[in-house]
Amino acid sequence: PTPPPATLFLFGASGDLVKRLLVPSLYSLFRTGLLDPALQIVGIDHVSGNDESFRRHLADFLAAQADDPDAEAGEIDLEQWPDFAQRLRYIQGDFTQADTYRQITRAIQASPTRNALFYLATAPRFFADIAERLGDAGLLQEAAEQYRRVLVEKPFGHDLASARALNERLLAVMAEHQIYRIDHFLGKETVQNVLVARFANVLFEPLWNNHYIDHIQITAAETVGVEQRGNFYDKNGALRDMVPNHLFQLLAMVAIEPPAAFDADALRSEKSKLLGAIRPWSMEEARHNSARGQYRAGTLKGEPVPGYRDEPDVDADSNTETYVAIKLVIDNWRWAGVPFYLRTGKRMGARDTEIAICFKPAPYAQFRDTRVDRLESNYLIIQIQPDEGIWLDFEAKRPGPTLDLETVQMGFAYEDFFALPPSTGYETLLYDCLTGDQMLFQRADTIENGWRAVQPFLEAWKDDPRTDGYAAGEDGPPSADELIGRDGRNWHQVGRQRPGTDR
Ligand code: BG6
Repeated sequence: PTPPPATLFLFGASGDLVKRLLVPSLYSLFRTGLLDPALQIVGIDHVSGNDESFRRHLADFLAAQADDPDAEAGEIDLEQWPDFAQRLRYIQGDFTQADTYRQITRAIQASPTRNALFYLATAPRFFADIAERLGDAGLLQEAAEQYRRVLVEKPFGHDLASARALNERLLAVMAEHQIYRIDHFLGKETVQNVLVARFANVLFEPLWNNHYIDHIQITAAETVGVEQRGNFYDKNGALRDMVPNHLFQLLAMVAIEPPAAFDADALRSEKSKLLGAIRPWSMEEARHNSARGQYRAGTLKGEPVPGYRDEPDVDADSNTETYVAIKLVIDNWRWAGVPFYLRTGKRMGARDTEIAICFKPAPYAQFRDTRVDRLESNYLIIQIQPDEGIWLDFEAKRPGPTLDLETVQMGFAYEDFFALPPSTGYETLLYDCLTGDQMLFQRADTIENGWRAVQPFLEAWKDDPRTDGYAAGEDGPPSADELIGRDGRNWHQVGRQRPGTDR
């Protein structure tokens, strides 16, 4: 169904996010008939411009993308662009000036509907200010048949205190049901599919607990470096950039209790409970249970690439981590005794986002004449990207007169069953916000519980910010192997070849 018409205001309209992801995603929704014909999209920024120049700026970018086979937004067919561009408008305005908000008020009054969404795609320091100014201008007041929603990009705070303060300021001018905190991982098809795999099948859930699961690994390995974002990244690092948000979404999907209803509140309450049950490490435990790395110069896909400290806008002595691995435990009945190992890094050997569930070995190795006296663990791999799918490693008898066991793999590749539409994840999130479904957005308490769990690591490294080097193209620093090795375990290999796929 098409969501009701509205006006969508994009704060930070001249920024990267708007042209790279938001407008391409809106255009893709438009082409699939999922936008109301009366939807208006209004870009707001201080950069001088008008409707015409805004449309041209976006069209030029999309045209360049349309010719680029590796473009983020996938293949773009520009045939319907002129139609779509009709609904694009531009307000030149400073986010801190009352006149900008008067122009917004006029735009809403002139629109066929009073529904309005305000997308804060700006630098994070503007989030609360813009919300307050919208509030002061009366623009966040809802009435019958008239909604007002605010989408907030990441990063949502840079630690627990700042996330709390931001929540407080937002909640002082609007209600929780009006706030849509974005985490684009929640828009990824395969992330949502974790819940379907777990709760639409009887097969997995009986084994999904500490009786059968030994440990769980969550990995987001990237081959890209810091790119042009040195300025932002050098102040934040891998932990802040990826863990309390993206990796915790994966953690929550794999570890929550079945929600009593499949709706936003029930699901988000379960997520909040789960993240709230992560044991808060002491500083010493946090140091012991983590490893940090920074990429040095190395080779990726045969090409030499520079080290992190030589990237643009990065401090030449920077100790910012581009890789982090942490161990967490969850204090509840289901997960007592099951460690969770999370890791993420830039410039690793392969791109691979996956959840690896490692089961306990069978209790008794009865195949006495085999090569092993301890059986291999079964692994269930939920692959988020690339090669979306689910894979199960299990033991089989190797053909032949002797009884030898070998690990084999059974797999479900998305592409074998479904044509995955090229999607950035933002299509789903924008559509959900337009329909008023908060299920895939973060609630205040979920965000705060996430920061609470990473806060001990932030504290632990404050006084000892050294990072271990790893060469670009390697899978992280040796200290990460030691972290998991101390528990007698190994990392699941990054970017492993899957049968039936071209990797
Ligand atoms: C962003 C981070 O939120 O997520 C980036 O700021 C990271 O550093 C990106 O590269 C990863 O997202 P995806 O969708 O490419 O896996």
